Amino acid sequence: MIIAANLKTNHTRAGVKNYLDATSDFIDKSGARDRVFVFPPATALCESRSAVVVGAQNAYPAESGSFTGEIGSQQLDEFGIRALLIGHSERRHILGEGLDLVKRKFDYFAGLDYEIFFCVGEPPEIKEAGFDAVMTYIERQLDGIDLSYDRLILAYEPVWAIGTGKTAASEDILAVHGAIRRVCDKPLLYGGSVKTENAGEILSLENVDGALVGTTSWVSERFCALLEIANKLKKD
Ligand code: 13P
Repeated sequence: MIIAANLKTNHTRAGVKNYLDATSDFIDKSGARDRVFVFPPATALCESRSAVVVGAQNAYPAESGSFTGEIGSQQLDEFGIRALLIGHSERRHILGEGLDLVKRKFDYFAGLDYEIFFCVGEPPEIKEAGFDAVMTYIERQLDGIDLSYDRLILAYEPVWAIGTGKTAASEDILAVHGAIRRVCDKPLLYGGSVKTENAGEILSLENVDGALVGTTSWVSERFCALLEIANKLKKD
């Protein structure tokens, strides 16, 4: 499985260093065998550890240039970053990233062979409109994205479940993941209020290949508790 921590806008450089030290120590000692990724804030990007791959939460689709406030592949290269989140709902809905920019990011970083965590998920009003509306919304987010890209990892993160404590019901996760799986055979993660109380159930579901975790991942001990749960499931 793949278990990823999205630290969002939390931790300083020193905080991330402590976090990575503690998390990789835990993995080394526990022999956890899942693939573990940590996405720190841009100011705390650093090289990956043997047990933990460090990725970027965002980058602009250019090597360098005049894109105030953004970082490009030149800045990622400095730390050997090879994994990137694209299309996270907070970037789509809070920062106003449209389908076109998301697709340009995908094309650019796929061209550089990055491991891409491509996030999709519906807002509450679409969820209320029913399953067909949810799938139409997600299909639009996936339109033009090369679903056969070798280093693609998809993450289904319903917007209404992110940071709210509300998790999607297992039936809903099964239905959406099953439908996505029919068009894409790449690893498919669930994200949205994953915590120690529900991780075992969610990670056991068919077509769930791991989790992309926000709030619960921000404290290393809690993230490690999730890693322990995932490891016990013995799912590939
Ligand atoms: P929460 O786990 O806080 O709901 O966040 C999920 C998320 O956005 C991961 O990318």
